[in-house]
Amino acid sequence: MGRRLLNMWFGVISLFPEMFVAVTESGVTRRACERGLIEVHTWNPRDYAYDKYQTVDDKPYGGGPGMLMKVQPLSDAISQARKAAPLGTKVVCMSPQGERLDHSLVTKFHDWGSIILVAGRYEGIDERVLQRQVDLEVSIGDYVLSGGELPAMCVIDAVSRMVPGVLGDIQNAKEDSFAQGLLHFPQYTRPEIVDGDRVPDIVLSGDHAKIRRWRLQQALGRTYERRPDLLQSKNLQKDEIELISSYLKDKGLDGSVETILNKIQVGK
Ligand code: ADE
Repeated sequence: MGRRLLNMWFGVISLFPEMFVAVTESGVTRRACERGLIEVHTWNPRDYAYDKYQTVDDKPYGGGPGMLMKVQPLSDAISQARKAAPLGTKVVCMSPQGERLDHSLVTKFHDWGSIILVAGRYEGIDERVLQRQVDLEVSIGDYVLSGGELPAMCVIDAVSRMVPGVLGDIQNAKEDSFAQGLLHFPQYTRPEIVDGDRVPDIVLSGDHAKIRRWRLQQALGRTYERRPDLLQSKNLQKDEIELISSYLKDKGLDGSVETILNKIQVGK
C-alpha cells in the first residue's frame, strides 16, 4: 500500500543522534514533531557494535589518513532502520560525492513520504555498504563537513516545510523562493527609516497590484544578477525580460535585451 498519510517519516543513522535535537526541539520543525506531522527516529551504529570498546571505525585498506566507518555496526543499524520504516523506504547517504541537493530533490524526498538518512563520520563509508544498502548519495554543497548530521538536518528541515500544516496557513512553502525558481525579493519591516535609509515608497503605497509587480521585478532582477543560471530553464516571457531590463536601468546598469539574454544563456 502506498502512503497516504500526509506526514513525513525520517529515519536517521548517526553516531551523534543527540545533534538532531536541533530539529526536534526548535522552531517550525519542533512544532511539526509535536503535532505528528513529521517523525524523526534515530539509530546509532554504536548500539550495534558488540566488541568491548563498541568500535565503530576501522582503518582503510590500502592505507591513507583517517578511518572509515566500520561495516558491520553501520550495516546493522541501516537494516534495523529499514525494518522500522514504512515499506519501500529509500536510504540516502549524505556525502560530498553525492548529487547536489536542490528544490527539486527536496520535492522528490517529500513525495517519497519516508526516507532513511545516513550521516557518516570519519573519512567515509565502505563502498560495499553504499552499493548494497544505499539508494542515493546526496551532497549539500562543494565543501566538506565533519559529518553527515548537519546535511541530514538540512534535508529534514527543507522537506518538512513541504508537509501540509507545517508552515502556517498564511505562510506557504509554495512561496519559498526556490519553489518559484527565483530568489526572494527584498523585504522590510518597521521602522520605516533606519539611519536615514527608507523603505521603498512602493512597498508602503498600499497598492497591492503594484507591490506584487515590484516584488516580481525585484525577484527576477536579483536572480538575474546573482544566479543567472536559475533563469536558463525558465523560458522567460517578454514581459519578464522587460522587468529585468527596468530593474537594471533603475540601477544605472546595462538593461539591453541582448545583454540580458546573453548572460542568461551563459548562466554566469
Ligand atoms: N558530509 C560531509 N560533507 C558533506 C556535504 N558537503 N554534503 C553532504 N554530506 C557531507
